[in-house]
Amino acid sequence: MKELRHYLRFSDLAREELESLFKLTSEIKKKYKTFEGRKTLQDRNLVMIFEKSSTRTRLSFELGISQLGGSSVYLNTKDSQLGRGEPVADSARVISRMCDLVMIRTYDQEMIETFASNSTVPVINGLTDQHHPCQVLADIFTFVEHRGSIQGATVAWIGDSNNMCNSWIEAAEVLDFTLKISSPPGYEPKNFSESDNVKFLLTPEAAVRGADIVTTDVWASMGFEKEKRLRKLAFQKWQVNNPLMAQASKNAIFMHCLPAHRGEEVTSDVIDGDQSVVWDEAENRLHVQKALMETLLLDY
Ligand code: CP
Ligand code: NVA
Repeated sequence: MKELRHYLRFSDLAREELESLFKLTSEIKKKYKTFEGRKTLQDRNLVMIFEKSSTRTRLSFELGISQLGGSSVYLNTKDSQLGRGEPVADSARVISRMCDLVMIRTYDQEMIETFASNSTVPVINGLTDQHHPCQVLADIFTFVEHRGSIQGATVAWIGDSNNMCNSWIEAAEVLDFTLKISSPPGYEPKNFSESDNVKFLLTPEAAVRGADIVTTDVWASMGFEKEKRLRKLAFQKWQVNNPLMAQASKNAIFMHCLPAHRGEEVTSDVIDGDQSVVWDEAENRLHVQKALMETLLLDY
């Protein structure tokens, strides 16, 4: 029997495991592109629980498990007993008896931790307020495809110190690259101290200098919609635009997990420009998550 492992935050996989995962992702992607079937998860079932909206995460998990020969069930808070007060621990005990894998998108990380500690099958974090590890897996795989190993590279995170930023922080420590964060006053990373790998810079210009990746995200994440107007004022100088990109390394690529708000955190000329790899990142969610599901379920 495979040892029970969850993927709740980026650091749940060690560096060697991530290297194997990226190799497996390349293989899976190549085979998919050449129409070679890969039914490694035949008869296996994934339950997806969404308490927030999604396009990419839902599609990539639902299609991913189906491409591997398995199937999925979509649950949301409104239509399930989760929204009517059934305890998370009880839901986890029941749901995990009927499937092989659970993916959850929710608000507080604590919910997913509680679910995982009562689940008899692997649980994957499909985004919480605190982390978005699957997206950063896809982003790093995208960098590897375009530029090779990320070890020793420099990544500039511009804007809100949100779930994506936290997963980048963990990735920098595990995979040994430099992350330079710049956020407006009041929106800096919480419970954070600088390390050899992770630095905080006061201005976006200082953060992007020499960066190999410039990345950003919406100014108001899901669950923070009420702060939208206030944040729009605070984040004006943290927009990724052409003058800012010009200060990064000449070969720098631009990343965004999407959905993007053109004219806010990024201008159209950057996201639609030559340095942008955002559509590769989106597609790679599919391939990297198939590798993740196999890794959690199969003995390699
Ligand atoms: N990037 C991402 O997770 O997108 P969705 O919210 O559409 O799933
Ligand atoms: N930080 C964003 C990411 C969306 C994929 C949010 O949490 O809304």
